[in-house]
Amino acid sequence: MKLLELFAGSRSWGKIAEELGYEVFSVDHKPFEGIDLVIDIEDLIDDMLPWIPDVVIDGRPCTTYSMAAISHHRYEDGKPKTDFAAKCDRMNIKLNNFYKNWDCIYYIENPRAMLRKMDFMKGMDRTTVTYCSYGDTRMKPTDIFSNNIFDLFNEKGWKPKGMCWNGNKKCQHEPAPRGSRTGTQGLKGNYERSKVPQELCYDILKKTLCLKQKIKIHKMSKKKYKILNLYACLGGNRYKWNEVKEDIEVTAVELDPEAARLYQERFPNDTVIVADAHQYLLDHYKEFDFIWSSPPCPTHSRINISQYTRESWKPRYPDMKLYEEVVFLTHYFKGKFVVENVIPFYTPLIQGKERNRHLYWTNFNLPNSVSDRKNPDLSRTKDLINVLSKFHDYDFTKYNGTQSKQKMARNLVDYEAGKTIFETALGIIRKQDINQTTLF
Ligand SMILES: C[S@@+](CC[C@H](N)C(=O)[O-])C[C@H]1O[C@@H](n2cnc3c(N)ncnc32)[C@H](O)[C@@H]1O
Repeated sequence: MKLLELFAGSRSWGKIAEELGYEVFSVDHKPFEGIDLVIDIEDLIDDMLPWIPDVVIDGRPCTTYSMAAISHHRYEDGKPKTDFAAKCDRMNIKLNNFYKNWDCIYYIENPRAMLRKMDFMKGMDRTTVTYCSYGDTRMKPTDIFSNNIFDLFNEKGWKPKGMCWNGNKKCQHEPAPRGSRTGTQGLKGNYERSKVPQELCYDILKKTLCLKQKIKIHKMSKKKYKILNLYACLGGNRYKWNEVKEDIEVTAVELDPEAARLYQERFPNDTVIVADAHQYLLDHYKEFDFIWSSPPCPTHSRINISQYTRESWKPRYPDMKLYEEVVFLTHYFKGKFVVENVIPFYTPLIQGKERNRHLYWTNFNLPNSVSDRKNPDLSRTKDLINVLSKFHDYDFTKYNGTQSKQKMARNLVDYEAGKTIFETALGIIRKQDINQTTLF
């Protein structure tokens, strides 16, 4: 049985599920031990999972629904006051929709507070347990929303133990009035506080395992992530994408037939089209999940300014197709996009993000640094082709087309930048980049 553990943290559930024989995939926004996918769960898409799960354990962040912090995060009617509260609502609605679409068994666990009052939780079956009934020293009344709770119509469902109560002298739980240093409030850090009693995990997971025969075996999602790589050249940007995600389907568009031939040789699984990328974008943008466009840079480059006094310099307009594409993608494209170019000799007409001597227009945030690799100093080299061949891990002497070899070699985006940007578009957070809103 395939179990997806969301907001996995210490993997209270995942570890026990593995012992019981589940195949577990654990997701968290921090790289705690044993996490399979580090991502902001708001950005999760089912393509990132190895399969459609049979069971989901969802320990969604409770802060913005908790009694202690609700007045900071929400208005009296529950509507969000803070960005974080709005984010939590968006994320939870998205997850609830996943569970419907996946037709899976889910358990959503959250301390008893305001989550149950939210519109998007209404209509879900729910029960409340106390942690001490499962051997914990905290009483911590906790809501469990699930489509597998025992009742007359679901006799095979999970049956919660009866709840404990404040002041129960026969129970081992520590009294923890508000503000005290016992109970959940006494545990240091979100990580510790979020640990779920082992006995509760066992109870639920064992009971769910009994449903094995009832659960249809879901096939792995075959839908691939579709990428359009415009002005593909020799695929500097694309070189490391398979290290980020294996199941991608890339269509590359390049006008120069020799560059297209070599691109195809380098990436045999990609579909390569010799065509005008600008027109191709207009005709096909709806077919893709992610679009990268690198329109030619010569008319924007600072070289124009250093050379326009020379006899040999031919006057030319900066090519506005660059901005046409940025505006078009921003307003009409539903997926994530990147338009990449050099830093121009004029003030950019649309503000972009400057990273490592390039300018990027994207509809997602970029990390401050997209590559740790140092660009080679080309002003001091006589052997530019060789130096760039090493830097891009590609032998540019192979190119025999109408453009100069040097120009081709200079065209490529640093593959590390291509990789980081692709990871970021997918919402995958690298361990070294972690510096984002705390979820718990
Ligand atoms: C700056 S390079 C792209 C670099 C690429 N992103 C990389 O990282 O390797 C621009 C490429 O666009 C190609 N090109 C120029 N005009 C084009 C057009 N109208 N349609 C398709 N490709 C074009 C050029 O031949 C060149 O290979």
